[in-house]
Amino acid sequence: MVAEQTSNDQTISCVELTKIYSGKRESKALDSVSFSIPSNGIFVLIGRNGSGKTTLVRILSTELEPTSGEVFINGIDVKNESDKLRERIAIVPQEARAIPWMTPAQTVLSYLLWRGFSYGEAKRRALETLGKLGLGRHANSLNRTLSGGNKRKVLVATVLASEAEIIFLDEPTTGLDPISRREFWSLLKEIGQRRFTFLTTHYLEEAEELGDRIGVLDRGRLVGLGTLDELRQRVNYNYSMKLSRGVPLPHVTRGEVVEGRDGTRVLTTEEEAFAISRELSRGGYKFTINPISLDDIFFYLANRGADQVGN
Ligand SMILES: Nc1ncnc2c1ncn2[C@@H]1O[C@H](COP(=O)(O)OP(=O)(O)OP(=O)(O)O)[C@@H](O)[C@H]1O
Ligand SMILES: [Mg+2]
Repeated sequence: MVAEQTSNDQTISCVELTKIYSGKRESKALDSVSFSIPSNGIFVLIGRNGSGKTTLVRILSTELEPTSGEVFINGIDVKNESDKLRERIAIVPQEARAIPWMTPAQTVLSYLLWRGFSYGEAKRRALETLGKLGLGRHANSLNRTLSGGNKRKVLVATVLASEAEIIFLDEPTTGLDPISRREFWSLLKEIGQRRFTFLTTHYLEEAEELGDRIGVLDRGRLVGLGTLDELRQRVNYNYSMKLSRGVPLPHVTRGEVVEGRDGTRVLTTEEEAFAISRELSRGGYKFTINPISLDDIFFYLANRGADQVGN
């Protein structure tokens, strides 16, 4: 495939992107990933541990060179024009932590100075952004005295205060309690209205809540891409049944059966779900039945990893 890009192209496009980490044991973190998404709203990349999310984010944000393949962001060649791109993007890496002995004001200020803002402008932007994020009152407290959610907000404040039009957030809500996570979601939604936000997560409900588009990575391969509705349409079933461990699968079961640690998941049609439920009820077995969720779609796509998107 040949990628033709123009400078007014508002997309993120990858063509057969592959990353192999060399070392004692070679590891193929990305395996010929190709996609093109509009660079607006919020894109959420989901995938299990080690599926390649961070690797993709690091390549898109110019931190890491791919082994092969091409990447363009808004018409800019990520490999050959990284300097041009760097001023337009900002990233909060997965492992980033606010330095404990600095204050939020100092954290944002130093980041902006590093990005080339004058001292006066950096200070004005830092205080304004911290205020907007509800951190005004904590601006001069030490980061280590802040709650987990507020510590994360300080990092988001750094990239928000910059002029970057594309923001990468690698697992911004991991480890946050459910209330802080929800608070964070409103913040991310607001950011997504003004700047393209590319975020990764393990939480499927987060992708469901925030993603204008969702990508599913599994073992370095992109196995799903689209809006939630588009992903739903790729799954031929509309009901999901859960059977506890040890419950025998009725002989009427067709559909997609996924064995998990906590039991069996059966994706099926309405008619079959009815037949299965009848059998299970007869045997006195307990089960649940629900309309298909993103969680089910994820399992379905990961199970069928071989038929990759675009192939
Ligand atoms: N610097 C590295 N050197 C060697 N292998 C690496 C390196 N970084 C990542 N890998 C390997 O590449 C694969 C993808 O890792 P990556 O960190 O991109 O996954 P991830 O989806 O972000 O995982 P997580 O959800 O745990 O953050 C894994 O098998 C990982 O062990
Ligand atoms: Mg990661």
